[in-house]
Amino acid sequence: DFMREMAGLSDMEKQLKSILGITRVLILPQDSDDIPAVKANIGKEAARLLETKFPLYKKIAVTGGSTMAAISKEITADKKDASLQFIAARGGLGEDVLHQANTIASLFAEKTGGAVKTLYLPDHLSAEAYEMMMREPVIKEMMELYDQTEVVVHGIGNAEEIALHRKSSVEEVNRIRNGGAVSEAFGYYFDKEGNVVYRIRTAGIQMEQVQNAPFILAVAGGRSKATAILSYFKIAPPQTTLITDEGAARKIIELT
Ligand code: BG6
Repeated sequence: DFMREMAGLSDMEKQLKSILGITRVLILPQDSDDIPAVKANIGKEAARLLETKFPLYKKIAVTGGSTMAAISKEITADKKDASLQFIAARGGLGEDVLHQANTIASLFAEKTGGAVKTLYLPDHLSAEAYEMMMREPVIKEMMELYDQTEVVVHGIGNAEEIALHRKSSVEEVNRIRNGGAVSEAFGYYFDKEGNVVYRIRTAGIQMEQVQNAPFILAVAGGRSKATAILSYFKIAPPQTTLITDEGAARKIIELT
């Protein structure tokens, strides 16, 4: 509309689509690094867009993070839909409960009348624990759900911030640093070119499963996320829509 034209947001959306190689970008005014309400606005936009997908797609996997939590606050449903199924895309025990994929998936389900599938496992598993878990029927069932996932909704993190925040081992933090990782999504750490430099051994959704989902929504804002967004979109599936803010958008354009 007129206000968006005035602010040059539509123009920036066009630029971002071409920089990131995707067909849909939505930019909210201002910078969530400075103004917390901007993150709530990203949540609102994302919720409205997702609601339009509910009649079509029923299996929806969600990750964690504060931007994802902002969506869960805004999601509503005109008519309750018991056929919706929200799937925690990862375990994430150890993270702040409100920002865990499990909590967010549960909130989505509660608000829409859908069902929820949670994954209560630590994000990091030892090789032995991972092997054993993969043979557990409840975990196998989650893996099958990830294969069938139609919508993935996720945040994009700053690699180092997340590595520190998750209380990763010294060895892990070193690998993330030495590998030049700048972004993280789904437990994968990517460098500026989009190469995977480290990957958490997690029972959560795998990148191949994300790639198979017909609709993907990424949410990340704030100029501090610009490098991470640029990095992740080197490998992001082309069916990804990005909802971000002006702060991130300006910085991305400046960096390219
Ligand atoms: C973490 C998620 O908690 O949040 C990550 O596990 C995600 O996968 C990150 O990338 C983004 O967080 P936020 O709070 O900046 O939206």
